[in-house]
Amino acid sequence: MSGNKDGDGGWATFVWNSEKKEFLGRTGCSWFKIILFYVIFYLCLAGIFVGTIQALLLTLSSYKPTYQDRVAPPGLSHTPRLDKAEIVFSMSKNDTYVKFIESINALLKPYDDNVQTNEMKFEHCGDAPQWYVDRGSLENNAGQRKACRFSKSLLGDCSGDDDPTFGFKDGTPCIIVKLNRIVNFRPKAPSGNQSLPEALQGKVQPNLIPIHCKNKRQEDEGKIREIKYFGLGEGFPLQYYPYYGKLLQPQYLQPLVAIQFNVTLEQEVRLECKVYGANIDYSEKDRYQGRFDIKLTVNS
Ligand SMILES: *[C@@H]1O[C@H](CO)[C@@H](O)[C@H](O)[C@H]1NC(C)=O
Ligand SMILES: *[C@@H]1O[C@H](CO)[C@@H](O)[C@H](O)[C@H]1NC(C)=O
Ligand SMILES: *[C@@H]1O[C@H](CO)[C@@H](O)[C@H](O)[C@H]1NC(C)=O
Repeated sequence: MSGNKDGDGGWATFVWNSEKKEFLGRTGCSWFKIILFYVIFYLCLAGIFVGTIQALLLTLSSYKPTYQDRVAPPGLSHTPRLDKAEIVFSMSKNDTYVKFIESINALLKPYDDNVQTNEMKFEHCGDAPQWYVDRGSLENNAGQRKACRFSKSLLGDCSGDDDPTFGFKDGTPCIIVKLNRIVNFRPKAPSGNQSLPEALQGKVQPNLIPIHCKNKRQEDEGKIREIKYFGLGEGFPLQYYPYYGKLLQPQYLQPLVAIQFNVTLEQEVRLECKVYGANIDYSEKDRYQGRFDIKLTVNS
């Protein structure tokens, strides 16, 4: 009994020792010192943390990417783009392709002529592929830069002007392709025709990144009737580069290429499209770097 009592007394005494005026084994003065130490310690840690981040931020520009050496050459993206990159539809059933048309319409909205009329923001950059348009340094001192117009009428049969179903109702669907934007990147036109597929060799144009699609699998070779390309020069013209970024060129329009496929009906055809440029590479790991592939099945 008495031992137990002693124990209780020991615990209570530890919490508050009235003799030595100690709380949990320390005097008030000792507690004050230890709390003060940790407050100063953590304030210093926080200071170092904030200080290093501020120092790093000071070296960054809002306009120009500081570290760009790891940025891979541009990805190639296409619309419509769905799960598993499959486009399957039936040309006689419009409900099987409305979703494709909707995504193309959404992409083309900023390419409407009516939204490119502001002369302060847009300019005409020629009807043929041209050299890069230099708009000064990537700093804010010259303010916002103009962007080249890109009218969706350049996409011909795939512009939606004559056929609002973009070819889907006739079983010859269009897809719209763009190179993903990279600030300050200048894609280079192919230097010779050695690296180009045969179909492109005869029609090399200066100042243009050409694009070409072909069957991905050998067995699909006979299933492609025709592939048509629409756009300024049927490729990506250099005058739309470099891109100055979201702050300096908010209204920038990426040049588009529309590709219209006419393939054998009722069969899956695998197609691969690639862009060709002196500084555009392909990667085993990234299926969208400089190329993409899709599966297309057109049913009647
Ligand atoms: C699909 O076609 C039918 C008949 O031609 C038409 O009534 C309907 O509005 C069309 N639906 C869409 C989403 O275009
Ligand atoms: C390669 O390009 C040159 C001119 O750029 C052209 O004369 C030649 O015919 C092309 N080669 C092929 C195989 O098309
Ligand atoms: C697709 O190609 C076939 C065979 O070349 C042709 O008969 C047909 O008219 C083409 N379709 C369209 C919509 O152009």
